[in-house]
This record gives sequence, structure tokens and C-alpha cells, in this order.
Amino acid sequence: MTRSPDPTPPDRTPPDPGPVEPTTSSAPEPLLEVRDLVVRYGRIEALHGIALAVAPGELVTLLGANGAGKSTTMRALSGLLAPVRGEILFEGRDITQMAAHIRVKEGIVQVPEGRRVFPGMTVQENLDMGCHGRKFPNKSAYRDTLDYVFELFPRLLERRKQAGGTMSGGEQQMLAIGRALMARPRLLLLDEPSMGLAPMVIQQIFGIIAKIHSEGTTILLVEQNAQQALSRSDRGYVLETGTVTAAGEGRALLGDPAIRAAYLGVA
Ligand SMILES: Nc1ncnc2c1ncn2[C@@H]1O[C@H](COP(=O)(O)OP(=O)(O)O)[C@@H](O)[C@H]1O
Ligand SMILES: [Mg+2]
Repeated sequence: MTRSPDPTPPDRTPPDPGPVEPTTSSAPEPLLEVRDLVVRYGRIEALHGIALAVAPGELVTLLGANGAGKSTTMRALSGLLAPVRGEILFEGRDITQMAAHIRVKEGIVQVPEGRRVFPGMTVQENLDMGCHGRKFPNKSAYRDTLDYVFELFPRLLERRKQAGGTMSGGEQQMLAIGRALMARPRLLLLDEPSMGLAPMVIQQIFGIIAKIHSEGTTILLVEQNAQQALSRSDRGYVLETGTVTAAGEGRALLGDPAIRAAYLGVA
């Protein structure tokens, strides 16, 4: 059948949708939503328009090899890098232009790659640095938060007068996470917390991340350790050279042969 030219122009009036139905979808509004994010370092484009979302209460992993753009994503989310295109929404509000310190006040708190504890400061002083961005309503709120951190990390309580720089890698990671928790995050951004740690310490750190998550904190976790991260995550995204190439439930991604081959060395 050939199509005959239609002499009558198509009716461009959209059909009347009628009264707007209230949404019946059970999916909650994302706490964080990233749309078409492009970030450049000078002429080098590190993120080519990525999209991702994190719902309230979720633990979501962003998996990717070295140089994929994971830290770049985290820095854009925390406001340390300005994207050249795209949007970052927090609770539906556009925060793309919001300054980093205001994002901390809003509850977006990053644990940077490499921990970055203040080496000359004691454990207690490091933890107190975490409170700077967020005002406590009263002294007891500060105490409660500190107690919570010490309960999660008894080692930090034991070592509270020790200089941060003299702690082991695992202890410094605990300190970096504890410092971020002092800001009472609503969205905790964890950038490769397992990097450079021994297998047993990695287990411990992931156990603590799962605990923080189960107690209600929403987490976006950046990792190369697919097994440890995805097995504990609600959902995950795979980032390859600045592009999201796969997304799905944590365990589903872990079962994906391509992901197993690329990140677990399993054929
Ligand atoms: N400060 C920088 N200046 C120039 N290029 C950078 C800078 N930081 C990262 N890059 C480049 O951006 C890309 C993504 O880096 P990054 O986000 O650090 O990756 P990942 O955290 O996944 O290892 C890489 O190609 C890296 O070389
Ligand atoms: Mg990185």
C-alpha cells in the first residue's frame, strides 16, 4: 500500500486531557535527581550527560572503573564542581547553582575519596569539624549525634584524643564517615570508602554503611568493589567513561554477565 498525500493538514490541537488525575504511582519523589549532567575540566568532558535518581531511604551504588567520572559526579553533587549543562534536583528543587556550603546545610554531605581527615587534629576535633556546616538546635542534639557516631565506631571513642593522621587507613575511613555523620546528612555521598583497605577492614566498612542505611540515612555510594557494594544496594548505576551504561536493582546488576566480567573478573 502506498501512502497517498493527505491534502488536509493534520489537526494539531492536542486532545483535551480532561481533569488532571491525582497520581496513583507508589514511587516516592526522588530525594536526588540528576538530569543530563555534563561536567568539563577545561576542554576535557568528564561527564557526557548522565542521569540518575536516589529515592528517600535508598542505598544506591554508582559503580565504575578508574577514571569513569565517579568522583566528578560526587563533586558536582556536593557543589565543588559546576556543571556546564544539566540539572541537580534535591527534593524536587533545582540546586544546580547552590553553593557547596548551603548544600551541606540542606543535608547533602560528602565523604571525599581518600578520606581527607585533618592529620594534625585529634579524632574529636575532626568530628567537630563535621558540625560546622550544620547548626545544632541545642547542646543535646550535638551530644546525641556524637553518641550515635561513637556507638557506630567505638574505636573513635577509644581514640578520641589521638591525632587523625596517626590512625590506620580503616580508622581514618571511619573518622571521615563519622565526621560526615556529625553534619546529620539527609543524603550521604560516599566516594570509594573501601579504597586501599585490607579485605577484613573492607568488610567492616561495608557492614557499617549497611547499618547507617538501615537506620534511615539515604546513601549514594561510589565504588569499584562491585560485589560488596551491589550486594547491599537497593539499586545501582554503571558509569563508563562519563556515560551511564547500565542501571537496575543491585542484585540484578551483580548477576549481569557483562558486569561480572568487567568488575569481578568472572567470565
Ligand atoms: N582536576 C582534573 N583536571 C582534569 N581532568 C580531571 C580532573 N579530575 C579528573 N579528571 C579526569 O576526569 C575523568 C574522570 O575522573 P574521576 O571523576 O576522578 O574518575 P573516577 O572517580 O571514576 O576514578 C578522568 O578522565 C580524569 O582524568
Ligand atoms: Mg574517584
